[in-house]
Amino acid sequence: MSSKRVTAPQIRSMKGNARIGMLTAYDYPSAKIADAAGADIILVGDSLGMVVLGYPDTLSVTVDDMLHHTRAVARGATRALIVGDMPYLSYHVSVEESVRNAGRFIHAGAQAVKVEGGKPSRIKTIEAILDAEIPVMGHIGLTPQSVNALGGFKLQGKNADDARRLIDEALALEHAGCFSLVLECVPAELGAFITERLTIPTIGIGAGAQCDGQVLVYHDVLGLYDGHTPKFVRKYANLGADMQHALEHFLSDVRDGSFPAETESFHGTSSEELKRLYGSREPEGAIVVEMPKAQ
Ligand code: KIV
Repeated sequence: MSSKRVTAPQIRSMKGNARIGMLTAYDYPSAKIADAAGADIILVGDSLGMVVLGYPDTLSVTVDDMLHHTRAVARGATRALIVGDMPYLSYHVSVEESVRNAGRFIHAGAQAVKVEGGKPSRIKTIEAILDAEIPVMGHIGLTPQSVNALGGFKLQGKNADDARRLIDEALALEHAGCFSLVLECVPAELGAFITERLTIPTIGIGAGAQCDGQVLVYHDVLGLYDGHTPKFVRKYANLGADMQHALEHFLSDVRDGSFPAETESFHGTSSEELKRLYGSREPEGAIVVEMPKAQ
């Protein structure tokens, strides 16, 4: 595996050649670990709002929140392509503001941005961001920033009309110039159909096994999030419980006096010498000072 930074064109050319592994990360240590594990793409996802900041959804996340975390991820990941997730309202108001916001992600250390949705007005915005030389990853299906409009976090594209709309959006995003497309929470048959129809790679999350790549949220993979876990998540560890256990162990060692041990302490002037210089505290609190003897 080359240590050189993965690029958006390289991701595009992986279609049909190699499956793409993508993870989210939100800070220096998570980015460093995901990068060392070999992620092709690290998404600084706006899922930050739920798994790191404790909001019930992603809608409260601001551009400033995202940039702060993108900078930390950029310091931690040297190989994976870093994609900054444009948060709610950062690309909805005007095309000009969207391009400016996308550029801020690039200044923060991302090499591409992700934008949710594929309706005609969104395609115009994406074209303008691409025109500013910023690679764009699309995202359709269950787009969490539309949770209120969709009526909840639900499977999308179940009936034929919805499936047709998603296929049209996928084709429009490819035509606009997106280098890849996240498909979230759609039936496996639809995930496979869109994957087969597109020349750009699809990256699935709850979209079946036929997508060109898969993405999961870091905290879900590692068992660090105790909120709702969707059916499509596979937990590879239970680190939240392991971390709590480790912290309980530390606190118990503090309370029973077994931390720190001799090997975890520094040594300098002996306690006898310190007592000789500064005195010792008597049991009732009186200070006894031993004066140096006159020569
Ligand atoms: O914010 C996020 O983590 C995402 C992924 C789930 C694709 O958008």
